Amino acid sequence: LEESIRNRLITILFGTTQFISGEEISKQLNCSRTAVWKHIKELKKNGYQIESVPKKGYRVISRPDRISEDEVKHQLHTKRFGQVVHYHESVTSTQEIAHRFALDGALEGTLIIADEQVKGRGRLGRAWHSPKGTGIWMSIILRPAIPPQQAPQLTLLAAVSMVKAIIRVTNIQPEIKWPNDILINGKKIVGILTELQAEADRVNSVIIGMGINVNTAEVNFPADILDRATSLRVVHGEALSRSALVKALLEEMEKLYDTYLDEGFPFIKVMWESYAASLGKMITARTLKGELYGLAKGITAEGSLILEDEDGQIHNIYSADIDIPK
Ligand code: BTN
Repeated sequence: LEESIRNRLITILFGTTQFISGEEISKQLNCSRTAVWKHIKELKKNGYQIESVPKKGYRVISRPDRISEDEVKHQLHTKRFGQVVHYHESVTSTQEIAHRFALDGALEGTLIIADEQVKGRGRLGRAWHSPKGTGIWMSIILRPAIPPQQAPQLTLLAAVSMVKAIIRVTNIQPEIKWPNDILINGKKIVGILTELQAEADRVNSVIIGMGINVNTAEVNFPADILDRATSLRVVHGEALSRSALVKALLEEMEKLYDTYLDEGFPFIKVMWESYAASLGKMITARTLKGELYGLAKGITAEGSLILEDEDGQIHNIYSADIDIPK
C-alpha cells in the first residue's frame, strides 16, 4: 500500500513542471500533508532531486537512474513479470538469491535485481563483472510445465525478448550469438545464464539471469574484456534509463512467454534465427570434447546449434563457445 502511494506520488510530481502544493498532493493521494512530506523525504533519500519551497510546494528536478522496486514497477505494463520485485543495492549474485526464493515457492515472474554484484556468475563457471550503478543485474523466476530438456528454449526466448527491448529503447538492432550472447558491433552487451531446479522429467523452476552493460564507460571495463565487451551507452552515445530498459524487457518477455506457453517454440525459433549473427557463416565451436569448424545452419527445436563440418557431417551442439570470424 505504502508503495503504491509512492508510485502515485511520482506520477503526480512528474505530471507537471510547475510547483504543486502539499495540500493538492495530499488531496489527490487522499492522505495527510505530513504523510506527503514523509514520502517526499523518502524519495529524496532514494536520489530524487525535489525542490520544496514554502507556500509553493514541491517540484521535481530529476529522477535518479535507479532500478529500485518503485522505479521498476512505475508504469510497468505486465501481469506477472516484475510484479514482485526484490531489489538490493549489493548482492553476491542475484541467481543465488533467486534460487532461494524459488525453493520457497516464489510466484512466477518474481524479479531479483541488484545495483551491484560482488560474485556475479557467468556461463561455464566464469565470473561476471557487475560493477555498481551502471548495469542491470537481474534474475527472473519462471515455472513452466515443461521437461528439463526444453529449458534451453527459454534462454533463446530471453535473448529474443532482450533484442526487442533494446530495439525499443535505443533503436539499435543487436545480434544474438548462439546460445545467448547479445552483441553490438561484434562486442558483447548482454549475457544470459539459465539455471534449473528440476527433477528428471519435470521442471520446478527456471531461473533466467541477465546481465546488461548499460551505462558502463569504456574506461571502466577491465582490460581483459575490453576488446570483447561494450555497453549500450558506448554504442548509443548517451546514457540510458536502466529502469526503462528493465520495463521494456519484462513486457517483451511476458508477451513472448505467454505465446510460448500457448503455441510452443516454433515462432521463437523463427525470431531467434532472424536475429542470429552466426547463421550461414563458417564458425569455430569450442566444446568440452574439442573444436569443431563448419557452417552454422540453424537451431533445433531443443535449441541446440546445427553445424555442418567440412566433410558434410552434421553436428548438434549443446554447449560451446563460438568464434565467428569477422
Ligand atoms: C554469460 O556468461 O554470458 C552469462 C552472464 C550472466 C550474468 C547475469 S547478471 C544477473 C545474474 N546473476 C548472476 O550472477 N549472473 C546473471
